Amino acid sequence: MEHVATPSWAALAYLIAGVLFILALRGLSHPTTSRAGNRFGMAGMLIAVVTTVLLDAPVPSGQFLPRPSADDLVTLLQICAAVAIGGAIGLVTARRIKMTDMPQLVAAFHSLVGLAAVLVGWAAYLNPEGFAIVGADGLINPVSRIELGLGIAIGAITFSGSVIAFLKLAGSMSGSPIMLPGRHVINLGTLAAIIGLTAYFTQDQGLWVIATITGLAFIIGFLLIIPIGGADMPVVVSMLNSYSGWAAAAMGFTLGNTAMIITGALVGSSGAILSYIMCKAMNRSFISVIAGGFGAVASVGGEAREQRPWKRGSAEDAAFMLKQAENVIIIPGYGMAVAQAQHALREMGDLLKHEGVSVKYAIHPVAGRMPGHMNVLLAEANVPYDEVFELEDINSEFAQCDVAFIIGANDVVNPAAKTDKTSPIYGMPVFDVDKAKQVFFIKRSMGGVGYAGVDNDVFYMDQTMMLLADAKKMVEEINKALDA
Ligand code: TAP
Repeated sequence: MEHVATPSWAALAYLIAGVLFILALRGLSHPTTSRAGNRFGMAGMLIAVVTTVLLDAPVPSGQFLPRPSADDLVTLLQICAAVAIGGAIGLVTARRIKMTDMPQLVAAFHSLVGLAAVLVGWAAYLNPEGFAIVGADGLINPVSRIELGLGIAIGAITFSGSVIAFLKLAGSMSGSPIMLPGRHVINLGTLAAIIGLTAYFTQDQGLWVIATITGLAFIIGFLLIIPIGGADMPVVVSMLNSYSGWAAAAMGFTLGNTAMIITGALVGSSGAILSYIMCKAMNRSFISVIAGGFGAVASVGGEAREQRPWKRGSAEDAAFMLKQAENVIIIPGYGMAVAQAQHALREMGDLLKHEGVSVKYAIHPVAGRMPGHMNVLLAEANVPYDEVFELEDINSEFAQCDVAFIIGANDVVNPAAKTDKTSPIYGMPVFDVDKAKQVFFIKRSMGGVGYAGVDNDVFYMDQTMMLLADAKKMVEEINKALDA
């Protein structure tokens, strides 16, 4: 790389920004520190952006000039206008978005990061002098060409992959895997062609080479995501998050921007770690998710369901039995988020504790529709953190528990994951609610299914009482009965 050196004040500012980003990630790992983590992240980003704006574009002479020229002021105004427009769109979107639509929003934002990487790469290719990546021979430096090829390829894969993920999550496209015949051969062949062309790009910087790399990468992003089924989408979203980080890091090298390299690498590696954690939580191998075709939406055994007996209970029945219990474990899921029942649920917890009942909340790593979904909602409702437990910490307690109170969860309590090898959720660790003395199951109807679309044996167990209603309404009625 023949980029000019970053002046030491800017290097120091970038270092501070980098440390703040690391503190942000650390803070975001726990609900008690997540707000502080967000602030660290915002401060780090402000420092990084202001530093980058204050720096003049790197010039071949190796000097960074201060910014007072008229041209620079116009550029500064353009940057401010772009930040204002982008910021306003982000603000409005963030305020309007429903918590349950977060995954598709995240996928949409990742697609923008990918597209930005492609555009920066192309800008650098078309105007290499402006990016100071031209060697003495007047051609783009070979190392910069590799960075450009890889950055554009990863960006394009992120873009088209995220668009497909967005369409699948938003329901605009079928969540079922779309399997092309010979897809593994096509995918491997296309990937090999991208790598080969990137290597060839170091010898020939012709437009056709970079254009073909871009086109093939757009296609492979599309091909990689269409065979992935609904239940594996969470892993895909965090994987695309990781890709978007690596795309940004690659562009950081092209732009000679240390902060972008650090941020990109942090996003890339944290996304990869999150994907790994989620694969573990769903008992999927990372390779099998990437290879695609898993997580198919199974057909729902509607007839079988109607023929099997099940018990329906009322809010008063539930309140009576909850009062008698010594310990209750609450398992929230996606339906709690849909109903926005978290505040009523916390009140129920308070009322029960007042009666001397021990109350704990059990959170599955993929409950809801995004990582940490349930933790965020419970924190918003001021549920004490020491009452909230992860799957592996609480699962052994169901055997001694009087009541497992399932509110809007389904897949994460489905024993088919343990026993039915044909089930799309087979192998995913689930809560052992079937071991509890009494199970209350809140959902709206017997016809509704969970995300994976499969029937749940828990509905028909002797100790299960179905509480069919909107989760918030049902919990409010239970609270009334508890308070009476
Ligand atoms: P689900 O299996 O999706 O079950 C949701 C349950 O909530 C259903 O039983 C549904 O039944 C009920 N429900 C919906 N709206 C309700 C309302 N207003 N009031 C009461 N009940 C309501 O939820 P889960 O157990 O949380 O499982 C998560 C699933 O989503 C997993 O398969 C996971 O892989 C997948 N997923 C997770 C993520 C992440 S990262 N967390 C992202 C994408 C997908 P009714 O329709 O009958 O009410």
